[in-house]
Amino acid sequence: MNQKNSNIFILTNNATGDSWELPVLEGSVGPDVIDVRRLYADTDHFTYDPGFTSTGSCKSKITYIDGDEGVLLYRGYPIDQLADKSDYLETCYLLLYGELPNPEEKSKFVNDITHHTMLHEQFNAFFHGFRRDAHPMAVMCGVVGALSAFYHDSLDINDPHHRMVSSYRLIAKMPTIAAQAFKYSIGQPFIQPRNDLSFAENFLHMMFATPAEEYKVNKTLSKAMDRILILHADHEQNASTSTVRLAGSSGANPFACIAAGIASLWGPAHGGANEAVLTMLNEIGTVDNINKYVKKAKDKDDPFRLMGFGHRVYKNFDPRAKVMQQSCHEVLGELGITNEPLLDLAMALEKIALEDEYFVERKLYPNVDFYSGIIFKAIGIPESMFTVLFAVARTVGWISQWNEMIEDPTQKIGRPRQLYLGEDVRDYIPLDKR
Ligand code: CMC
Repeated sequence: MNQKNSNIFILTNNATGDSWELPVLEGSVGPDVIDVRRLYADTDHFTYDPGFTSTGSCKSKITYIDGDEGVLLYRGYPIDQLADKSDYLETCYLLLYGELPNPEEKSKFVNDITHHTMLHEQFNAFFHGFRRDAHPMAVMCGVVGALSAFYHDSLDINDPHHRMVSSYRLIAKMPTIAAQAFKYSIGQPFIQPRNDLSFAENFLHMMFATPAEEYKVNKTLSKAMDRILILHADHEQNASTSTVRLAGSSGANPFACIAAGIASLWGPAHGGANEAVLTMLNEIGTVDNINKYVKKAKDKDDPFRLMGFGHRVYKNFDPRAKVMQQSCHEVLGELGITNEPLLDLAMALEKIALEDEYFVERKLYPNVDFYSGIIFKAIGIPESMFTVLFAVARTVGWISQWNEMIEDPTQKIGRPRQLYLGEDVRDYIPLDKR
């Protein structure tokens, strides 16, 4: 028996007749939020919400999503405008500081990030501790966690300057770590960053140059890469961001928190989906097999899901997927790939899924990962690196959210409760009596 009364939500226990007034908080846009912070203390009950589908874990001013309308805003700016007009480092500045930089601020920020891209020389030895066939996400988890062992001078989380230095280091060094993880896996020497290149160009250079041959950066490809980075830069309180916040809520250092975020991102239901899309397309193989796989995806007794479809929040077209679809065609056009069987397969799958009653009813649209994998493949990035690239892009979102959390005076250590269904207290039975 609940009713909303202007800015108060009244909760009534039908069994006892007791009722409580819960404050309703208003966001700048989006639905109002019932403040349940005193619920347990006042009512002796707490809420049950696995997957947090109805729970706001924090206040935030960074990113806004309207999943029904397919809207994504970074600090109020629509994602399509940023993807079209901005660039990744400008978007990083926006996410970190809340406003677009003026020309001086932008040039200083670009210069500062560019001059933090090198890794401590000792990391070479660290990389060599991994097996050559290690998944690059495993390497990323380890190496990013290890940054805290190398950069002791920026670990005081209560010092805003330290926090900013760590943030810059993370944004700047992630592409270097990602490219080195790739080079290590293929047995090529590490390629050092170049300060005359843009963020995206430098990443492609570190991935594809060799000491024997310079990599000539193709502007269409670096533009597509930059756009992918913008589109993945932040996404509100998703699993990995919530992981970063939860890890950080205990006072852990930022490098450890971002390593935790990387681990969470790795799963196929989250950042691992772009790699899973390609694996799935390869498994489907030909357009003729699509119906069989769509049927499998609809079968409740079959764990198979169409990778790259559906989203926890978007129940409409993912606005990032729209931009990505266009980029995908630009890249394939530039590279002269007019007859890519995987793309044909992807397009046929997209069409069938968009028309199929099961997908339409459940509002399962293609998500951003559906197209990003195809672009990465066309650029020559191997599948095992797809989620790594997502991590590179998302680092700015994680670190911005982490900074926001530390600055929030209402922030507490994250500590959810549980609905306990186990045994009540019982006496220990000695081994010879069991
Ligand atoms: N294929 C087939 N059925 C699906 C799919 C799918 N990809 N996604 C959801 N469903 C069905 C699901 O079985 C359920 O059906 P019913 O109502 O009959 O039980 C209904 O749609 C609602 O699904 P849900 O699992 O309750 O939705 P969720 O919000 O818990 O899951 C998701 C969201 C992204 C985990 C899920 O859609 C999924 O597993 N998609 C494939 C993986 C993927 O592409 N992930 C990338 C997400 S975008 C990148 C990111 O932001 O990390």
